[in-house]
Formats: sequence, structure tokens, C-alpha cells
Amino acid sequence: MEQLALFPQLDKDVASPSQSNVIGGIVNVATVPQHSPFRYPGGKTWLAPRMRQWLRWLGRQDKRPTEFIEPFAGGGSMSLLVAFERLAGHVTMIELDPEVAAVWHTVLEGDGTLLAQDILCFTPTPAAIAKTLTMPPTTLEARAFQTIVRNRVQRGGILAPGAGLIKQGEAGRGVASRWYPETLKRRILDIIAIRERITFIEGDGLRIAKQYVHRDDVAFFFDPPYTAAGKKAGSRLYSCSELDHEALFALAGELHGDFLMTYDNAEGVHELARKHHFEVRAIAMKNTHHAKMSELLIGRDLRWLDE
Ligand SMILES: C[S@@+](CC[C@H](N)C(=O)[O-])C[C@H]1O[C@@H](n2cnc3c(N)ncnc32)[C@H](O)[C@@H]1O
Repeated sequence: MEQLALFPQLDKDVASPSQSNVIGGIVNVATVPQHSPFRYPGGKTWLAPRMRQWLRWLGRQDKRPTEFIEPFAGGGSMSLLVAFERLAGHVTMIELDPEVAAVWHTVLEGDGTLLAQDILCFTPTPAAIAKTLTMPPTTLEARAFQTIVRNRVQRGGILAPGAGLIKQGEAGRGVASRWYPETLKRRILDIIAIRERITFIEGDGLRIAKQYVHRDDVAFFFDPPYTAAGKKAGSRLYSCSELDHEALFALAGELHGDFLMTYDNAEGVHELARKHHFEVRAIAMKNTHHAKMSELLIGRDLRWLDE
């Protein structure tokens, strides 16, 4: 997904995907600070202005979250935004995919400086890439390095099995055209500098989020794989894509803290939201092919979007 979104106006709840008539101006997310070392399929950098708006709105009501929890963290763009901009007291990221988790363990708890150094020293020839992707890693840092390389050389940053390598790449630079070692190093070192603000948990986001159900000082951001109502898009993008979406909506309904969810604009998702009496707004964006599409913001009370 290209990080472009149409702002600032969002439509009120729409009865069906076909009725979403989204208006607004284009915000180029080149203006949004990018902190993640991942280029993540379905990444939410484009949501940054809304994330700030939501958390600041909570703050104005004396409900600044003690904890911000992202149970489907992936590339963690929103968790990092919250941590860097201190929009909550602390951040907890949860991710099930062990390859992605290896990167977060390394950067947030392990030898992230070594990872940054290895990235800087790597020359991404086709042979070196092939070797890195096929050799079984023996350390956590090596596994993290392999994930970063895979994320940079596979089409769309897709880490799921079956993803092919970039062929032409940017400006015909081929497989290594997304390899920006200096940028990756800087992002990793920047995260290390604030890592006491972030906890990473490898595991099932749904199960772990349940442990916080009674905490009214926690804000949850759910960005699950888009596989609700039999949709297949999410299953091609992620190694971990199976999810009980009904259970996620049920959990969100029980939370004492506030939450924000993002979903694809599919009829089945609208149905789930209606069933649980959640508000839904459609937000327009452009995909990598500049096709207009919309995603949904779902919450208990989305009045802050109008402020
Ligand atoms: C849409 S992506 C999140 C993208 C993220 N918001 C970003 O900006 O990079 C969904 C993520 O959920 C992860 N996932 C799937 N099932 C999970 C589960 N049960 N618990 C935790 N993470 C899960 C996937 O591996 C994937 O990384």
C-alpha cells in the first residue's frame, strides 16, 4: 500500500462499501516521520495524523493513555509514532510472526547496534541476497537480519511464503532497489535510543489484549490482517493471517479503555461493526497502483474525527 491517504474529511458511517463516498485532500505521507525499519504491507503510516488526533483528544479529557497497545504490530508504524511523540505513557507491541518478532526482539531488547552494523556492511548482490535468504540463521540477530533483507528484496515487502523477489525495482535498480542501509541504520539506532518506552511481546495479540480488558487507562490500536468475511487479501500478505474476527470485535466491546480499529471496507466488516454497535467511518486512500480505495476506522466513539 502506498502511503498516501485522502484527508481531511471522512464520511460518516456507511451502510455498505458501495455507498462510501469519501471526500478530502491528499496528504502525502512523505511529510509523516517514518520510524520503522520495515516496509510493511498494509502499513499504517498514512494514519499518523488521525492517530495523533485521537490520542490528543483522549488527553484533553484527562484520559491520556498510560499504555498504548498494538496487538497486531507488524512494522509498528503507529506504535513507533506514539513512542517517539510521547502520545502515551508507554507502548506495548505484540506480533505473532516469529520472523517479524526477531527484528523487534533484537532492536528493543537485543543487540540492535550489531544488526544496524550488519545492514551497513552488507553488499546486496544477487548472490549475497540468495545466500542470506537460504542460510538458516543461528542467532536472533541473524534471524532479524534475514527478515530485514527479505522485507527489502521481496515484492511489496511481503514476508509470507510464496512472495517473489523484486525484478525491475526502483529506476530499474533491480532486486536491491529498496536497500537503503544508511536509512535503516539510522531508524534502528533512533529506536534503540527510546527503547525503554516500548515493550515487545511475541504472541497472540488477541489473547494478550484480553489481559488488559479491565484497564481503562489503556488505548488499543487494532490493525489485524484483512481476512474478515472470507476476504483473501490479508492471507497473501502475512505468514500469520488466520484470525477470529468475531472474537476480536467481541473483545473490543468488552474493553474498559478506548480503542481504534482499521479494516478493509467490506460488507462483512460493516456487519460486524453494526452487530457490536461500533461507529464506522470510511477513509479514502490510494494503493500502489494509484487506484482509489477506502479503509475503515472503527471505534466506540469517533466524534474526535470531527474536531
Ligand atoms: C495489517 S498488519 C499490521 C501492520 C502495522 N499496523 C504496520 O503499520 O506496520 C497485521 C499484522 O498482524 C500480525 N498477526 C496476525 N495474526 C496475529 C495474532 N493473532 N497476534 C498477533 N499478530 C498477528 C501479522 O503477522 C501482521 O504483521
